[in-house]
Amino acid sequence: MSAADGPGYLCSMNALVYHGPGKKAWEEKPTPTLQQPTDAIVRIHKTTICGTDLHILKGDLPEVTDGRILGHEGIGVIEEVGSAVTTFKKGDKVLISCISSCGKCLYCRKGMYSHCEQGGWILGHLIDGTQAEYVRIPFADTSLYHIPETANEDAIVMLSDILPTGFECGVLNGQVQPGDSVVIVGAGPVGLAVLLTAQFYTPATLIMVDVDDNRLAVAKTLGATHTINSQTVDAVAEVMRLTENRGTDVAIEAVGIPATFDLCAAVIAPGGHIANVGVHGKPVELHLETLWSRNITITTRLVDTVTTPMLMKTVVSNKVDGASLITHHFALNDIMQAYDTFEHAAREKALKVILTSAS
Ligand SMILES: NC(=O)c1ccc[n+]([C@@H]2O[C@H](COP(=O)([O-])OP(=O)(O)OC[C@H]3O[C@@H](n4cnc5c(N)ncnc54)[C@H](O)[C@@H]3O)[C@@H](O)[C@H]2O)c1
Ligand SMILES: [Zn+2]
Ligand SMILES: [Zn+2]
Repeated sequence: MSAADGPGYLCSMNALVYHGPGKKAWEEKPTPTLQQPTDAIVRIHKTTICGTDLHILKGDLPEVTDGRILGHEGIGVIEEVGSAVTTFKKGDKVLISCISSCGKCLYCRKGMYSHCEQGGWILGHLIDGTQAEYVRIPFADTSLYHIPETANEDAIVMLSDILPTGFECGVLNGQVQPGDSVVIVGAGPVGLAVLLTAQFYTPATLIMVDVDDNRLAVAKTLGATHTINSQTVDAVAEVMRLTENRGTDVAIEAVGIPATFDLCAAVIAPGGHIANVGVHGKPVELHLETLWSRNITITTRLVDTVTTPMLMKTVVSNKVDGASLITHHFALNDIMQAYDTFEHAAREKALKVILTSAS
C-alpha cells in the first residue's frame, strides 16, 4: 500500500503478539485494513491487560494461535470506516467493547451478544486485538460506543470488560436487592467491579474474600463492609458469624477455582443466589445433597456488554469511580514491562494497568 492509494496511516505498526505458551513479543505487524463494509479501523489511544490475557499466555486457551495480537479492551480514535458503517466516522473517539456483536443474529436479537453467531468474544482471541497501535473492529456500529468529551478516558477503559462483567455476571445475575447480604469471593479487578456496581442496589452487607491483604484493603476503600483473608481465617465460619448463621442472600464467585465456588455454596442462605463469574478450567463439585432443599439459584454468564451504555453514564457522572481500579500507567511501547507488573500483581500491588499510546 502506498500513501497515494491507501489510508493516511502507515502500513506497519507495533503490537503485542502471542507466540505460544509463555511467549510474547512487542513487534512489527502489518497495520490492519478494512475487510468487510461493516468494519472500522481504530487507532488505539489507551488499552489495558486482563487476567484472561494471562490465561492465554499460560496456554489455557489453545484456540489462540501463534501470531495473534492480544487485547480486548481499550479506547481509540476512528481512522477509517467501511461503507456500511453509519454511526461512526473518522476522528470519532470510541470505546471498544470486548464483545463484538452483529446486532442481527438470533442471540444478538435476544441481547445475548456474547453468543453472537459471528462475533462474541473474538478480539485478541480469534482475531487480532487491541494491544497494538491499530485494531480492526468488526460490526463497528454495534461493537463501539461514542465517548463523551468530558469523560475521564482512563476510567472509560474499564467499560470494555471489567465493569459490565462485574455488573452483568455478578450483580444482575445475583439479583442483589436493597438490604441484602452479599459475599464476593475474589477481589481482583472483576470482583472489585462487582463491589462497585452492587452498591447501585444498596445491599446492607458487602463481604469481600481474597487471599491478598492489599486487595482487601482496596475493597474496604471501595465500599466493602467486611473483608476476610481466607488464607488466615476460616471464611465459611466468619461469613456465618457475620450473617447471624443464616448465610448470605447473594454469593458471587469471581476467582474461577473449585475452592471459591465451594465457599459460595457453603455460605448461601435459603432462597439465595450464587452467581458464578470466574472462568473455570477444572470441574467443580455441585453438592446437591445439601443444596437441593435450599431454594437457591445458580447462574453462569459470559459478559454480554448489554449494560455498557448505562454503565457509561454512571462512569461519566462519577457515580461509579472506574479509575479507582487503576494502579499503574505505562506508555504503550513499554507493554512488556506492564505485563511483568501485571503478572506480579500481589508483589506490585497492581490492579488494572493503563497503557497510553504516544500518538
Ligand atoms: N464470565 C465472564 O464473562 C468473565 C469476564 C472477564 C473475566 N472473568 C473471570 O473472572 C475472574 C476474575 O477476574 P480478575 O481479572 O479479577 O482476576 P484476578 O486473577 O486479578 O483476581 C482473582 C482474585 O482471586 C484471588 N484468589 C485467588 N485464589 C483465591 C482463593 N482461594 N480464595 C479467595 N481469593 C482467591 C486472587 O488473590 C485475586 O485477587 C477470572 O476467572 C476471569 O477469567 C469472567
Ligand atoms: Zn478481559
Ligand atoms: Zn450477532
